[in-house]
Amino acid sequence: MSSSVDIQHRFPGLNGGWARFDGPAGTQMVDSAHRAMTEFASSGINANTGGYFAAANECDALLERTRGVLGTLFGANPEGICLGANMTTMTMALTRAIARTLKPGDRVVGTKLDHDANVSPWRIACELSGAEHVLAPFNTSTFELDTDAMIALITPNTKWVAITGASNLLGTAPNLKPIIDAAHNVGARVFVDAVHLAVHRQIDIGQIGCDVLATSPYKWYGPHAGVRCVEPELLNSLPVAKVRPAKNIGPSRFETGTPNFEGIAAVEAAARFLIEEDMNKVESYENGIFLPLLNGLQNIDGVKVWGRPTLEGRVPTVSFTIQGHRPDHVAQVLAQARIAVWSGSSYAVEAVDQLGLTESGGVVRAGVTRYVSANDVDRLLEVVTSLASNR
Ligand SMILES: Cc1ncc(COP(=O)(O)O)c(C=O)c1O
Repeated sequence: MSSSVDIQHRFPGLNGGWARFDGPAGTQMVDSAHRAMTEFASSGINANTGGYFAAANECDALLERTRGVLGTLFGANPEGICLGANMTTMTMALTRAIARTLKPGDRVVGTKLDHDANVSPWRIACELSGAEHVLAPFNTSTFELDTDAMIALITPNTKWVAITGASNLLGTAPNLKPIIDAAHNVGARVFVDAVHLAVHRQIDIGQIGCDVLATSPYKWYGPHAGVRCVEPELLNSLPVAKVRPAKNIGPSRFETGTPNFEGIAAVEAAARFLIEEDMNKVESYENGIFLPLLNGLQNIDGVKVWGRPTLEGRVPTVSFTIQGHRPDHVAQVLAQARIAVWSGSSYAVEAVDQLGLTESGGVVRAGVTRYVSANDVDRLLEVVTSLASNR
């Protein structure tokens, strides 16, 4: 596999000498995705689905091709792949449908590791239906999800379990298997938020065994969009809010209105990029860049890493604080050195709350993706070292 420096030319957005550790909030788009988007817009195939002329056929073909490529990427049945605006919007629509299937006495189990986009949609669905919404904690010393505590919450009246594939804040990647098994044992369905996972790991839905998996292509070098894989029988049975002429079966029952075709063309290209790169190689490549970052931060006096101390059970996203400096200030100083990170909660509000960091402004978050280089890591560590020595 080529180095991150060798691949940087594929990302025209990497300009101005910036070190981009902001991937967890959105990556730069790969060149083939840019091209696919503009080619769609200029090709004359800009039409709609279900027509009798060539351009309309091309639109149908684009949707079918994209679902096929996504199916290959995620080991999913293309007949259950929904395309949409972003994960949050799509999850709100899904849980609005699920709310109509819930009743008082039912339970939905989530986690405190999750981004709020996998917490609040369920919270609202429970409020609407009278079902109970409970959240499993994580261990604040090991930063692991407490699997036993989570399984203990999965009672016979549990209808859904919503869990992250990887925390967008702490990087923790929970052991999904025992939790999914426990959910299925009581007849509950499982929703996995793979928005943070998909850019770092090979995903095979068949192997994970979940019923729904959600991801956002703009986190894996594609355009701002959402992708959700749903077990087709479940997809067809949910009482979705839809207009009457829209199809009653298949993914389009959830795809309200006219698709964002140019965006979908870019989703297809980004998915092909991940397949070509080989996610298993990406994982080992990113780990090689990430380990010196993780170790480097842990070795700086005055820096506290909020996350697992080794590569085990985590993806290459690290959150930290520097004694004597608020996270926003650290992000500002890094920005002055052309190093992009995020500060605050990054919408993982429950996690920041459980860590007791809400009042102090959360954490600084740095994410390694395919184009982050060893030199970027050195630059970040240098600024953090200098800040930490100045408390
Ligand atoms: C883990 C995780 N889940 C969900 C979301 C929400 O995704 P979207 O912006 O596509 O709604 C994000 C966005 O940061 C995320 O990191």
